[in-house]
Amino acid sequence: MSRKVRKILSVALVLLLATSFSACGRSEVQSNNDEEKVEDKIQIGMCFDSFVIERWQRDRDVFVQAAKEMGAEVNVQNANGDVEEQKKQIDYFIKKGMDVIVIVCIDSDALADSVKDAKDAGIKVIAYDRLINNADIDLYISFDNEMVGTLMGQALVDNGIKGGNVIIVGGSPADNNVALVENAFTEVMNYNEVTILDTTHCDGWRAELASEYIYDHIDQVKECDAIMCGNDNLASEVVSALSVQRLAKKIMVTGQDADLEACQRIVEGTQIMTVYKPVEKLARRAAECALALAKGEELIGDDVGTIDNGKGEVPYVKLEPIKVTKENMDETIISSGFHMKEEVYLNVK
Ligand code: BGC
Repeated sequence: MSRKVRKILSVALVLLLATSFSACGRSEVQSNNDEEKVEDKIQIGMCFDSFVIERWQRDRDVFVQAAKEMGAEVNVQNANGDVEEQKKQIDYFIKKGMDVIVIVCIDSDALADSVKDAKDAGIKVIAYDRLINNADIDLYISFDNEMVGTLMGQALVDNGIKGGNVIIVGGSPADNNVALVENAFTEVMNYNEVTILDTTHCDGWRAELASEYIYDHIDQVKECDAIMCGNDNLASEVVSALSVQRLAKKIMVTGQDADLEACQRIVEGTQIMTVYKPVEKLARRAAECALALAKGEELIGDDVGTIDNGKGEVPYVKLEPIKVTKENMDETIISSGFHMKEEVYLNVK
């Protein structure tokens, strides 16, 4: 039964109880009114890829809190990296008659049909952090992924890689962000005459594949000046494999997300940079947009543009990522409260 039909029935039930059972009815009528209040709230379904990577729990917590403060109810589902499971979860939200479905997709090319089903049922769809291709989504909200790649490249250039060699240990090839980051990174490398010795991808963002790659390609790894890692979780595995080979600190490593361990490695010197993406900002802005879409309002703001996802131009809210090095750790990560100083400098005397 759709939410609207349920709402009509619940109002009818309240009226019936109020007129026919007034003698016995005060508390009963009251409880049905309460039910109606809950039903009246905007209902948001949120589908996550998984919570393995540190940042996603923060995305979830901030989104849920912000949406609640704005008067909505949020139901969160976790697909644990399984595309078919994610499709089922979207289907479940469609059957529940959600007003909006917010999706962190596992595979950017796999959800066109699911989005169509949601849209046919009158539900708004937001692609959160990762673009969903060839689908009539109402919004794509993310950080500027090309800028993430550019910042990684620039950090290597600032550290003297010009004319050197690099290996890319990238994330899931099914994630649209991965190509955006790598293309922008490659542009900076080409401009600075850096040779990309090899590129590998970690399916499903599985970090163990990153260390396996290092062990299996150790001769090539020894020839490189830097390893561009798709995120900090991959960098964790790469740095520990490099440490075993006594190569940590000798080969520059990049990442993104500003995970606590990555920030620790940066101040300790085994990773040269990460990219800080203030996920609080992303999650809050997404909650704001979800409510606006549910109310049928137009999305407004300086950050609203469009992007072509293969189906046509779709609304795109783009936020700015920030490069983090040893030098600006305190002014970016510590002063924003993203991590605490004692935690970041835990192993540094
Ligand atoms: C996100 C990264 C994240 C990665 C793995 C990407 O789409 O942009 O922040 O580390 O997925 O979850």
